[in-house]
Amino acid sequence: MSFPQTRLRRLRRTPALRGLVRETDLRAGHLVAPLFVAAGVSGREPIATMPGVERLSIGEAVLEAGELQARGVPAVILFGIPDAKDEQGSGAWDDEGVVQLAIRAIKAAHPDLLVIGDVCLCEYTDHGHCGALGADGDVDNDASLALLARTAISQARAGADVVAPSDMMDGRVGAIRAELDAEGLGDVPIMAYSAKFASAFYGPFRDAAGSAPAFGDRRSYQMDPANGDEAVREALLDVQEGADMVLVKPALAYGDLIHRVKDATRLPVAAYNVSGEYAMVKAAALAGLLDERTAVLEILTSLRRAGADIIITYHAKEAAAWLAE
Ligand code: PBG
Repeated sequence: MSFPQTRLRRLRRTPALRGLVRETDLRAGHLVAPLFVAAGVSGREPIATMPGVERLSIGEAVLEAGELQARGVPAVILFGIPDAKDEQGSGAWDDEGVVQLAIRAIKAAHPDLLVIGDVCLCEYTDHGHCGALGADGDVDNDASLALLARTAISQARAGADVVAPSDMMDGRVGAIRAELDAEGLGDVPIMAYSAKFASAFYGPFRDAAGSAPAFGDRRSYQMDPANGDEAVREALLDVQEGADMVLVKPALAYGDLIHRVKDATRLPVAAYNVSGEYAMVKAAALAGLLDERTAVLEILTSLRRAGADIIITYHAKEAAAWLAE
C-alpha cells in the first residue's frame, strides 16, 4: 500500500491559508517597554550603545509613556538613574527618588498604563552591585533583603502596579511579599526575575544606567548560563515565595528555559529581550546586514512560541507600530 506524498506546502500557498493555521500571535498587548529615567537629564540623552534608546527626564518619560500607550503597549518598566550613589544604594528607596517621582507622574498622566518598578540596587550603589556588601566584599544576601523590600514598598506606595525584583538574592520574593502585605499593599503583584543569568548581553544596559560593577562580577548571585534545571528550581522557589509572574532573562539564547519555566510553573512568564540583544539587531540593521523589521518581528514571535506571555523589549515602540500596519 502506498501513501500519497505528504504536502505540508498545501497550507502555505496563500496569506489567508498561512493566517488560518498560524499557531502563535504577537500583539502590542504582549509588550513591555523599558524606560530609563534620569534625575540629571533635562529632555533626552542618547545612549551610545543602544541606538534609538534614550535617557529621559521625568517629563519626557511621561510623554514617551503616552506614545507607547497610544500604540497599544500596555506597560512600561522603569529604571532609575539617580543624581548620587552611595554604598547602600539609598536612592532606590527614597520616596522622592527619580523612579518614585516618575511613577507618580506617569500614573497621574496615564492612569490605565501599567507601570512596573524594577527593584534592584545596582543603579544606586557606588560599587554597582545589586545588594549590600558584607565584610568579605561579597554581596550580603540577608542584609540586602530588607533594602530590596524597602525599595519595593516605596515604589508600590508611589503607585507602581507591579514590582519586579531583578537582584537575584535568595529569598527576596518572600521578603517583598511579606512586607507588601504588612503595609496594606496586598494587591500589588510581584514579577520575579526568577532565572536571570550572568550574561554578556547586559553590557549596553550597564552603559545606559552607569551600573557596571566597580569590581568583580555578578556571578555569585546571577545564574550560570550553563544551567537549565537550576533555572526551573529558581522559578519554583519564587512561586512558593509568592511570585505572581516569573521572568527569564536574557531571552534569545534561553528559549528552552522560557519553555521549561512555563511548563513547570503555569504562571504568566515574561521574557526579557535585553539590551545586548537589542544592540546586536540595531547594529546589524544600521550596517545594512539585515532587515530590521522582519528580524525584530521574527525574534518577538519566537519568544511567544517558546512560551512567553509577556515580552520586555526595547523594540516595543517600533514593533507596536509595525504590528498596527
Ligand atoms: C538590574 C538590571 C539589569 C538589567 C535589568 N535589571 C542589569 C544587570 O543585571 O547588570 C539588564 C537589562 C538589559 O540588559 O537590558 N540588576
